[in-house]
Amino acid sequence: MQDLLAMRDLSSAQLSHILDLAQTIKQRPSAWQNHLQGKSIALVFEKPSLRTRASFAAGINRLGGHSIYLDAENLMGSREPASDVGANLALWHDAIVARVYSQATLDELAKASDKPVINALSDECHPCQALADLLTLTEQLGDLSKVTLTYVGDGCNVCHALMAGAALAGMNLQIVTPVGYEPNAERLADAQKVGETTGAKITLHHDFNNLQQTDAIYTDTWFSMGQERDSNQVMHDFAPYQVNQDLMKQLGAKYFMHCLPAYRGREVTAEVIDGPQSLILHQAENRLHAQNAVLVELFAGAQA
Ligand code: CP
Ligand code: NVA
Repeated sequence: MQDLLAMRDLSSAQLSHILDLAQTIKQRPSAWQNHLQGKSIALVFEKPSLRTRASFAAGINRLGGHSIYLDAENLMGSREPASDVGANLALWHDAIVARVYSQATLDELAKASDKPVINALSDECHPCQALADLLTLTEQLGDLSKVTLTYVGDGCNVCHALMAGAALAGMNLQIVTPVGYEPNAERLADAQKVGETTGAKITLHHDFNNLQQTDAIYTDTWFSMGQERDSNQVMHDFAPYQVNQDLMKQLGAKYFMHCLPAYRGREVTAEVIDGPQSLILHQAENRLHAQNAVLVELFAGAQA
């Protein structure tokens, strides 16, 4: 592994290795406390973040490394090209973690930098989130190839990352979106193709009529950062897709998942997200462990 730009860059074997490694690091953090000693990592964020920023900073610290945060809201593209940012940061830092508006910015950063680049969320994908989510599902349910997950809501970056991850892990993923808010058709076809070899089943739906019973329901905000959408239209289009207790019961869901930040009363009711079936804090905690596994793996590759 040289970079982690999108979930679809991983192979099934790499995914399973990262999830195993994340569990090992989580169980025995002291064994890894000097792993990034002397290493410096730049956290470059064009958009706000709580979990990603704070978990990378804390995780890098736990591995013995150092991080700096760069607010890049008006940096790449407007102040200077992403390629110059990448080439410069690589002079002083050992890796770049970047949250960007456009996936193309990540590609530019990675091309210009001879150090690993990690996608901390783009318009297209949120791989660190999906890794934490798959780690959480593994902890709760075991073998991912036996898990059915139902993603309800916007076919956004989080949906794309789960789609690619589910395909690699051989899962059954049912995606339910309003018409017009589907995930990218090419990415869906890619995931379905991967599923032909891994046994994963990835299906797209617009209603809840023909769904299988599910282990967990996952949703995300209806208003992703940087999207310009008519809010009245969105509220109208997504209203039938709210995750509430009735839907949890209808699909036999044991667990509820959300990447956060969440908007109670919109995509999910407070009763569900704050109730006993909710895995949101497990997911958030696992961000750190999954990301640390990625860092360990990327530096192993860089040293090879
Ligand atoms: N889930 C997630 O990425 O949260 P932040 O936007 O707070 O980083
Ligand atoms: N889809 C959301 C995820 C936030 C973590 C967004 O892009 O804003």
